[in-house]
Amino acid sequence: LRDKYIQAIAAAGDESALETLRVQALGKKGEISLQMRELGRMTPEERQTAGPALNALKDEINSALAARKESMADAALDERLRTEWLDVTLPARGQRTGTIHPISQVTEEVTAIFADMGFAVAEGPQVDTDWYNFDALNIPGHHPARAEMDTFYMHRATDDDRPPHVLRTHTSPVQIRHMEKVNAPCRIIAPGRVYRADYDQTHTPMFNQVEGLAIDKDISMANLKWVLEEFFAAFFEVDGIKTRFRASHFPFTEPSAEVDIQCSWVDGQLKIGEGDGWLEVLGSGMVHPHVLRSAGVDPDLWQGFAFGMGIDRIAMLKYGIPDLRAFFDSDLRWLRHYGFAS
Ligand code: PHE
Repeated sequence: LRDKYIQAIAAAGDESALETLRVQALGKKGEISLQMRELGRMTPEERQTAGPALNALKDEINSALAARKESMADAALDERLRTEWLDVTLPARGQRTGTIHPISQVTEEVTAIFADMGFAVAEGPQVDTDWYNFDALNIPGHHPARAEMDTFYMHRATDDDRPPHVLRTHTSPVQIRHMEKVNAPCRIIAPGRVYRADYDQTHTPMFNQVEGLAIDKDISMANLKWVLEEFFAAFFEVDGIKTRFRASHFPFTEPSAEVDIQCSWVDGQLKIGEGDGWLEVLGSGMVHPHVLRSAGVDPDLWQGFAFGMGIDRIAMLKYGIPDLRAFFDSDLRWLRHYGFAS
């Protein structure tokens, strides 16, 4: 009996097997318990030898069970120590945080500079009707500007009642939408995405513009020149930067001017705000009376200037980036190279 239990305990695989053995031997109806009960029917002499022997066996089995249980716990602990470890001396894995895209950063800078001069921000839809994008801006259906702008059409004129829709080709439709809403006077910029079917080193089918619009009783080209020079001085961080106004033509402004900023090339490096070279950066002019009228503003009472500038273009100039397309490639190596990502 003793050998049977001692061997079984040594061979037990887990705690529930040990418990089964304990019940078999020492439980109420266990083999040893039953024998203990037999003691009562023995003669005193028999009992004197059998009693202590049974008690000793009971103790031995109990301690064998306890010892086996402990060694199982030790083995389990060893196993955990072997498999569940953590090397706290390893260097931590670096945490990469996201960064603001350079175009978003530049848009914020531009917005802040114009905000200092009292310009609020207005927005319009990127998919607009051809009326807002063209007609209201004095660009009638047959006008060559429609073809020149390489317009993406969402919905062309058909039999149904919906007007043709385009991906806006410039931010100028926001002029109309804003004046319809607040009339005059007003002073806003409208930054946002615009679309033209064009692709090379300096053109992407989606790019960003910022529109400017100031309407009041006596606004002139002189105010436009001052505002732009203030802006460029702040944006490129050069005091007294010069601008050059070249007569031009836009259907929605009269007179119209293309504006260049002063620059020079030194050892193949572009310097903004010094020297006697010029770089074209925007289109502008006095808002055409037809445009004011389209938006419900009386041109006999109000006048003002408007301009449209390429945000990506001035970002390229400020950060010395040769290829516009890189802005929209989402290449982390490129973003890091220019310090736009960590
Ligand atoms: N909308 C013109 C363009 O995209 C720029 C412009 C805006 C010119 C406002 C004059 C006035 O080229």
